[in-house]
Amino acid sequence: MIEEKLKTIIRDIHDFPKPGIVFKDITPLLQHPEIVAEAVEAFADGLKDVEFDVIAGIESRGFLFGFLLAQKLNKPFIPIRKQGKLPFHCISESYKLEYGQATIEMHEDAFLPGTKVLVHDDLLATGGTVVAASKLIEKLGGEIAAYCFVISLDFLNSAGRLSRFSENVISLVRYQ
Ligand code: PRP
Ligand code: ADE
Repeated sequence: MIEEKLKTIIRDIHDFPKPGIVFKDITPLLQHPEIVAEAVEAFADGLKDVEFDVIAGIESRGFLFGFLLAQKLNKPFIPIRKQGKLPFHCISESYKLEYGQATIEMHEDAFLPGTKVLVHDDLLATGGTVVAASKLIEKLGGEIAAYCFVISLDFLNSAGRLSRFSENVISLVRYQ
């Protein structure tokens, strides 16, 4: 039900940001607060049996739903940002993604060792971004409780790259 609604509203932009990439554009979704609310509800429902302490969201699109979900579930939110954006001492990881490469960072005091972390991003493509985020979380002694995405590009077969951190993966929309 929510998957059908989201599929209708998310649009494909061909050859963005590079030739050959079909970019899944979620900006039309942001113009529909009632569907955004349903999506947050669907995440909350999918996570009802998952135990976690904090939500880590990945810049920038991972902040949109990640922070809403953290507010709804009354959990602290941890921003994972692109290099050079966070003001305090950081740990860093570099990675490749579907259309380039990047470095992400997290504050070294983001959480205490043993914290159970839910990792959120808007979209799972190759998995490079969330694997790098997971390595940052493990460096601080965190445990990945689960991943949640608005969109998974299942045809890129990246779920296997996440399984060494957590088998628990929730995606509202899957493209086979
Ligand atoms: C996009 C998306 C994910 C990542 C997924 O972020 O929001 O973070 O790519 O790709 P992967 O699974 O191949 O790593 P992008 O780096 O384009 O940044 P943005 O959120 O700031 O647009
Ligand atoms: N991030 C990585 N691949 C993407 C895609 N195809 N659409 C939107 N965001 C992405």
